[in-house]
Amino acid sequence: MKVKKLMVVGAGQMGSGIAQVCAQAGYEVLLNDIRKEAVQRGLGGIEKNLERQVKKDRLTSREKEEIIARISQSADLQDAKDVDLVIEAAVENMTVKCKIFSQLDEITPAHAILASNTSSLPITEIAAATKRPEKVIGMHFMNPVPVMKLVEIIRGLATADEVYQTIEEMTHTLSKMPVEVNDFPGFVSNRVLMPMINEAIYTLYEGVATKEAIDEVMKLGMNHPMGPLTLADFIGLDTCLYIMETLHDGFGDDKYRPCPLLRKYVKAGWLGRKAGRGFYTYE
Ligand code: CAA
Repeated sequence: MKVKKLMVVGAGQMGSGIAQVCAQAGYEVLLNDIRKEAVQRGLGGIEKNLERQVKKDRLTSREKEEIIARISQSADLQDAKDVDLVIEAAVENMTVKCKIFSQLDEITPAHAILASNTSSLPITEIAAATKRPEKVIGMHFMNPVPVMKLVEIIRGLATADEVYQTIEEMTHTLSKMPVEVNDFPGFVSNRVLMPMINEAIYTLYEGVATKEAIDEVMKLGMNHPMGPLTLADFIGLDTCLYIMETLHDGFGDDKYRPCPLLRKYVKAGWLGRKAGRGFYTYE
Protein backbone atom coordinates (compact mmCIF):
# COMPACT_ATOMS: atom_id res chain seq x y z
CA MET A 1 0.00 0.00 0.00
CA LYS A 2 1.26 3.49 -0.86
CA VAL A 3 0.43 6.29 1.55
CA LYS A 4 -0.77 9.47 -0.18
CA LYS A 5 -2.96 11.23 2.34
CA LEU A 6 -2.58 11.19 6.11
CA MET A 7 -3.92 12.81 9.25
CA VAL A 8 -1.79 13.89 12.22
CA VAL A 9 -3.88 13.96 15.41
CA GLY A 10 -2.57 16.51 17.93
CA ALA A 11 -1.05 19.81 16.80
CA GLY A 12 1.43 20.29 19.66
CA GLN A 13 5.18 20.37 19.26
CA MET A 14 5.46 16.73 18.12
CA GLY A 15 2.30 16.68 15.97
CA SER A 16 3.16 19.87 14.09
CA GLY A 17 6.75 18.66 13.56
CA ILE A 18 5.43 15.40 12.11
CA ALA A 19 2.97 17.30 9.87
CA GLN A 20 5.83 19.50 8.64
CA VAL A 21 8.17 16.66 7.65
CA CYS A 22 5.31 14.75 5.97
CA ALA A 23 4.24 17.81 3.94
CA GLN A 24 7.89 18.48 3.03
CA ALA A 25 8.08 14.91 1.69
CA GLY A 26 5.07 15.57 -0.57
CA TYR A 27 2.24 13.95 1.40
CA GLU A 28 -1.19 15.54 1.66
CA VAL A 29 -1.61 16.22 5.39
CA LEU A 30 -4.57 16.98 7.64
CA LEU A 31 -3.40 18.56 10.89
CA ASN A 32 -6.06 17.78 13.49
CA ASP A 33 -6.64 18.91 17.06
CA ILE A 34 -9.77 19.23 19.17
CA ARG A 35 -8.96 22.94 19.49
CA LYS A 36 -8.82 25.07 16.33
CA GLU A 37 -6.41 27.49 18.02
CA ALA A 38 -3.96 24.63 18.61
CA VAL A 39 -4.01 23.80 14.88
CA GLN A 40 -3.41 27.46 14.02
CA ARG A 41 -0.57 27.67 16.54
CA GLY A 42 0.95 24.45 15.13
CA LEU A 43 0.77 25.83 11.59
CA GLY A 44 2.35 29.09 12.78
CA GLY A 45 5.30 27.09 14.15
CA ILE A 46 5.65 25.19 10.86
CA GLU A 47 5.65 28.47 8.87
CA LYS A 48 8.36 29.87 11.15
CA ASN A 49 10.53 26.74 10.73
CA LEU A 50 10.14 26.81 6.95
CA GLU A 51 10.87 30.54 6.81
CA ARG A 52 14.17 29.84 8.63
CA GLN A 53 15.03 27.39 5.87
CA VAL A 54 14.15 29.98 3.21
CA LYS A 55 16.49 32.48 4.92
CA LYS A 56 19.25 29.84 4.88
CA ASP A 57 18.62 29.35 1.10
CA ARG A 58 17.65 25.71 1.59
CA LEU A 59 14.11 26.30 0.35
CA THR A 60 12.61 28.83 -2.06
CA SER A 61 9.61 30.92 -0.98
CA ARG A 62 7.59 29.09 -3.58
CA GLU A 63 8.53 25.67 -2.17
CA LYS A 64 7.61 26.92 1.29
CA GLU A 65 4.17 27.98 0.04
CA GLU A 66 3.68 24.60 -1.69
CA ILE A 67 4.53 22.75 1.54
CA ILE A 68 2.10 24.89 3.55
CA ALA A 69 -0.59 24.34 0.88
CA ARG A 70 -0.30 20.56 1.41
CA ILE A 71 -1.39 20.96 5.05
CA SER A 72 -5.13 21.34 5.75
CA GLN A 73 -6.58 22.27 9.12
CA SER A 74 -8.98 19.91 10.86
CA ALA A 75 -10.88 20.09 14.14
CA ASP A 76 -12.99 17.00 13.47
CA LEU A 77 -11.77 13.38 13.43
CA GLN A 78 -14.45 12.67 10.78
CA ASP A 79 -12.09 14.36 8.28
CA ALA A 80 -10.06 11.12 8.42
CA LYS A 81 -12.67 9.31 6.28
CA ASP A 82 -10.42 9.12 3.20
CA VAL A 83 -6.88 8.91 4.62
CA ASP A 84 -4.39 6.05 4.19
CA LEU A 85 -2.61 6.67 7.49
CA VAL A 86 -3.21 8.41 10.80
CA ILE A 87 -0.30 9.38 13.06
CA GLU A 88 -1.62 10.11 16.53
CA ALA A 89 0.42 12.55 18.64
CA ALA A 90 -2.12 13.49 21.31
CA VAL A 91 -1.47 13.57 25.07
CA GLU A 92 0.30 10.62 26.74
CA ASN A 93 -2.79 9.18 28.37
CA MET A 94 -3.98 5.64 27.66
CA THR A 95 -7.70 6.46 28.09
CA VAL A 96 -7.48 9.37 25.65
CA LYS A 97 -5.46 7.35 23.12
CA CYS A 98 -7.84 4.36 23.28
CA LYS A 99 -10.81 6.66 22.71
CA ILE A 100 -9.14 8.29 19.68
CA PHE A 101 -8.15 4.92 18.19
CA SER A 102 -11.59 3.41 18.66
CA GLN A 103 -13.16 6.46 16.92
CA LEU A 104 -10.58 6.35 14.10
CA ASP A 105 -11.33 2.65 13.64
CA GLU A 106 -14.95 3.57 12.85
CA ILE A 107 -14.11 6.59 10.65
CA THR A 108 -11.10 5.60 8.51
CA PRO A 109 -11.26 3.31 5.45
CA ALA A 110 -10.55 -0.40 6.06
CA HIS A 111 -7.08 -0.18 4.46
CA ALA A 112 -5.89 2.69 6.68
CA ILE A 113 -2.98 2.20 9.07
CA LEU A 114 -3.32 3.71 12.56
CA ALA A 115 0.02 4.74 14.08
CA SER A 116 0.79 6.22 17.48
CA ASN A 117 3.71 8.52 18.33
CA THR A 118 3.51 7.43 21.98
CA SER A 119 6.85 7.66 23.79
CA SER A 120 6.27 4.65 26.05
CA LEU A 121 2.65 3.39 26.20
CA PRO A 122 2.02 -0.20 24.98
CA ILE A 123 1.07 -0.32 21.29
CA THR A 124 -0.61 -3.70 21.88
CA GLU A 125 -3.03 -2.15 24.39
CA ILE A 126 -3.83 0.80 22.08
CA ALA A 127 -4.39 -1.69 19.23
CA ALA A 128 -6.86 -3.65 21.38
CA ALA A 129 -9.16 -0.59 21.35
CA THR A 130 -9.71 -1.23 17.59
CA LYS A 131 -11.03 -4.06 15.43
CA ARG A 132 -7.87 -3.85 13.28
CA PRO A 133 -4.97 -4.55 15.67
CA GLU A 134 -2.91 -5.85 12.71
CA LYS A 135 -2.97 -2.32 11.24
CA VAL A 136 -1.87 -0.56 14.44
CA ILE A 137 1.81 0.34 14.90
CA GLY A 138 4.09 2.70 16.84
CA MET A 139 5.91 5.52 15.01
CA HIS A 140 7.99 7.26 17.66
CA PHE A 141 9.54 10.48 16.36
CA MET A 142 12.15 12.43 18.36
CA ASN A 143 12.05 16.08 19.35
CA PRO A 144 12.75 18.38 17.46
CA VAL A 145 11.12 16.31 14.71
CA PRO A 146 12.50 18.27 11.71
CA VAL A 147 16.07 17.75 12.98
CA MET A 148 16.24 14.26 14.53
CA LYS A 149 16.84 11.36 12.13
CA LEU A 150 15.37 8.50 14.16
CA VAL A 151 11.87 7.04 14.00
CA GLU A 152 11.50 4.09 16.36
CA ILE A 153 8.99 1.74 14.72
CA ILE A 154 7.20 -0.41 17.27
CA ARG A 155 5.48 -3.63 16.38
CA GLY A 156 2.47 -4.46 18.54
CA LEU A 157 1.75 -8.12 19.25
CA ALA A 158 -0.57 -8.35 16.22
CA THR A 159 1.06 -5.85 13.80
CA ALA A 160 1.13 -7.37 10.29
CA ASP A 161 4.43 -7.62 8.37
CA GLU A 162 3.07 -5.67 5.39
CA VAL A 163 1.98 -2.85 7.71
CA TYR A 164 5.49 -2.74 9.19
CA GLN A 165 6.98 -2.64 5.67
CA THR A 166 4.68 0.19 4.52
CA ILE A 167 5.63 2.30 7.54
CA GLU A 168 9.33 1.48 7.18
CA GLU A 169 9.29 2.59 3.51
CA MET A 170 7.27 5.68 4.30
CA THR A 171 9.74 6.66 7.04
CA HIS A 172 12.58 6.56 4.50
CA THR A 173 10.61 8.94 2.26
CA LEU A 174 10.64 11.43 5.18
CA SER A 175 14.48 11.26 5.07
CA LYS A 176 14.40 9.59 8.48
CA MET A 177 15.92 6.33 9.65
CA PRO A 178 13.45 3.68 10.86
CA VAL A 179 14.64 1.34 13.61
CA GLU A 180 12.52 -1.71 14.44
CA VAL A 181 11.77 -2.51 18.07
CA ASN A 182 9.29 -4.71 19.91
CA ASP A 183 6.57 -3.56 22.26
CA PHE A 184 8.02 -3.33 25.80
CA PRO A 185 7.71 -0.41 28.25
CA GLY A 186 9.71 2.60 27.02
CA PHE A 187 10.67 0.67 23.84
CA VAL A 188 14.44 1.17 23.40
CA SER A 189 14.78 4.98 23.33
CA ASN A 190 13.14 5.77 26.65
CA ARG A 191 14.20 2.54 28.36
CA VAL A 192 17.78 3.74 27.98
CA LEU A 193 17.46 7.56 27.93
CA MET A 194 15.02 8.15 30.78
CA PRO A 195 16.83 6.16 33.54
CA MET A 196 19.95 8.17 32.58
CA ILE A 197 18.03 11.43 33.03
CA ASN A 198 16.45 10.13 36.27
CA GLU A 199 19.93 9.22 37.58
CA ALA A 200 21.18 12.73 36.71
CA ILE A 201 18.28 14.10 38.81
CA TYR A 202 19.26 11.78 41.70
CA THR A 203 22.83 13.07 41.36
CA LEU A 204 21.53 16.62 41.82
CA TYR A 205 19.14 15.53 44.64
CA GLU A 206 21.99 13.89 46.58
CA GLY A 207 24.20 16.97 46.21
CA VAL A 208 26.90 15.21 44.22
CA ALA A 209 27.26 18.27 41.96
CA THR A 210 25.42 21.38 40.76
CA LYS A 211 23.03 21.15 37.82
CA GLU A 212 25.52 23.01 35.63
CA ALA A 213 28.32 20.60 36.59
CA ILE A 214 26.20 17.51 35.89
CA ASP A 215 25.29 18.87 32.44
CA GLU A 216 28.88 19.86 31.66
CA VAL A 217 30.18 16.38 32.57
CA MET A 218 27.80 14.73 30.12
CA LYS A 219 28.27 17.35 27.38
CA LEU A 220 32.05 17.61 27.46
CA GLY A 221 32.81 14.09 28.66
CA MET A 222 30.31 12.07 26.64
CA ASN A 223 29.72 14.42 23.72
CA HIS A 224 25.99 14.68 24.40
CA PRO A 225 24.56 17.74 22.57
CA MET A 226 22.64 18.75 25.71
CA GLY A 227 23.29 17.86 29.34
CA PRO A 228 20.65 15.51 30.86
CA LEU A 229 19.01 18.21 33.01
CA THR A 230 18.78 20.62 30.07
CA LEU A 231 17.37 17.76 27.99
CA ALA A 232 14.82 16.93 30.72
CA ASP A 233 13.64 20.57 30.63
CA PHE A 234 13.46 20.36 26.82
CA ILE A 235 11.38 17.13 26.87
CA GLY A 236 9.14 18.34 29.73
CA LEU A 237 9.47 17.13 33.33
CA ASP A 238 5.86 15.87 33.35
CA THR A 239 6.67 13.69 30.32
CA CYS A 240 9.88 12.44 32.01
CA LEU A 241 7.93 11.51 35.15
CA TYR A 242 5.19 9.83 33.15
CA ILE A 243 7.74 7.72 31.25
CA MET A 244 9.55 6.72 34.49
CA GLU A 245 6.20 5.68 35.98
CA THR A 246 5.42 3.63 32.86
CA LEU A 247 8.79 1.84 33.22
CA HIS A 248 8.32 1.38 36.99
CA ASP A 249 4.77 -0.02 36.60
CA GLY A 250 5.56 -2.02 33.46
CA PHE A 251 8.60 -3.86 34.85
CA GLY A 252 7.73 -3.75 38.57
CA ASP A 253 11.44 -3.09 39.18
CA ASP A 254 12.58 -0.46 41.67
CA LYS A 255 15.57 0.45 39.54
CA TYR A 256 13.06 2.59 37.58
CA ARG A 257 11.71 4.49 40.63
CA PRO A 258 11.29 8.19 39.74
CA CYS A 259 13.50 10.56 41.75
CA PRO A 260 11.51 12.43 44.47
CA LEU A 261 12.98 15.71 43.17
CA LEU A 262 11.41 15.05 39.77
CA ARG A 263 8.03 14.47 41.44
CA LYS A 264 8.43 17.65 43.48
CA TYR A 265 9.18 19.82 40.42
CA VAL A 266 6.20 18.40 38.53
CA LYS A 267 3.91 19.04 41.53
CA ALA A 268 5.20 22.64 41.65
CA GLY A 269 4.35 23.10 37.96
CA TRP A 270 8.06 23.47 37.11
CA LEU A 271 7.65 21.47 33.94
CA GLY A 272 10.73 22.68 32.08
CA ARG A 273 11.14 24.96 29.09
CA LYS A 274 7.43 25.03 28.16
CA ALA A 275 6.55 26.33 31.68
CA GLY A 276 9.40 28.85 31.79
CA ARG A 277 10.98 26.97 34.69
CA GLY A 278 12.37 23.52 35.37
CA PHE A 279 15.92 22.81 36.44
CA TYR A 280 16.73 26.10 34.71
CA THR A 281 14.65 29.23 34.09
CA TYR A 282 13.69 30.41 30.60
CA GLU A 283 12.61 33.79 29.22
N1 CAA B 1 12.71 22.87 15.14
C1 CAA B 1 13.35 22.83 13.95
N2 CAA B 1 14.69 22.96 13.82
C2 CAA B 1 15.41 23.18 14.93
C3 CAA B 1 14.81 23.25 16.22
C4 CAA B 1 13.40 23.09 16.30
N3 CAA B 1 12.76 23.12 17.46
N4 CAA B 1 15.79 23.47 17.12
C5 CAA B 1 16.95 23.53 16.45
N5 CAA B 1 16.72 23.35 15.13
C6 CAA B 1 17.72 23.31 14.05
C7 CAA B 1 18.40 24.66 13.84
O1 CAA B 1 17.68 25.44 12.92
C8 CAA B 1 19.75 24.24 13.29
O2 CAA B 1 19.60 23.89 11.91
P1 CAA B 1 20.85 23.94 10.88
O3 CAA B 1 22.03 23.29 11.55
O4 CAA B 1 20.33 23.15 9.73
O5 CAA B 1 21.07 25.37 10.61
C9 CAA B 1 20.06 22.92 14.02
O6 CAA B 1 18.78 22.44 14.49
C10 CAA B 1 20.99 23.14 15.20
O7 CAA B 1 20.39 24.10 16.05
P2 CAA B 1 21.21 25.14 16.93
O8 CAA B 1 22.50 25.46 16.26
O9 CAA B 1 20.29 26.27 17.27
O10 CAA B 1 21.43 24.42 18.32
P3 CAA B 1 22.17 23.09 18.67
O11 CAA B 1 23.35 22.85 17.82
O12 CAA B 1 22.31 23.13 20.14
O13 CAA B 1 21.09 21.96 18.31
C11 CAA B 1 19.43 20.47 19.03
C12 CAA B 1 19.84 21.93 18.88
C13 CAA B 1 19.32 19.82 17.64
C14 CAA B 1 18.06 20.45 19.71
C15 CAA B 1 20.54 19.72 19.86
O14 CAA B 1 20.78 20.43 21.05
C16 CAA B 1 20.19 18.31 20.19
O15 CAA B 1 20.34 17.40 19.39
N6 CAA B 1 19.70 18.06 21.44
C17 CAA B 1 19.29 16.75 21.91
C18 CAA B 1 17.90 16.48 21.42
C19 CAA B 1 17.41 15.13 21.84
O16 CAA B 1 18.06 14.36 22.54
N7 CAA B 1 16.18 14.81 21.42
C20 CAA B 1 15.52 13.60 21.79
C21 CAA B 1 14.70 13.88 22.99
S1 CAA B 1 13.87 12.43 23.51
C22 CAA B 1 12.51 12.37 22.57
O17 CAA B 1 12.19 13.21 21.79
C23 CAA B 1 11.68 11.17 22.74
C24 CAA B 1 10.84 11.03 23.93
O18 CAA B 1 10.00 10.16 23.87
C25 CAA B 1 10.99 11.78 25.17
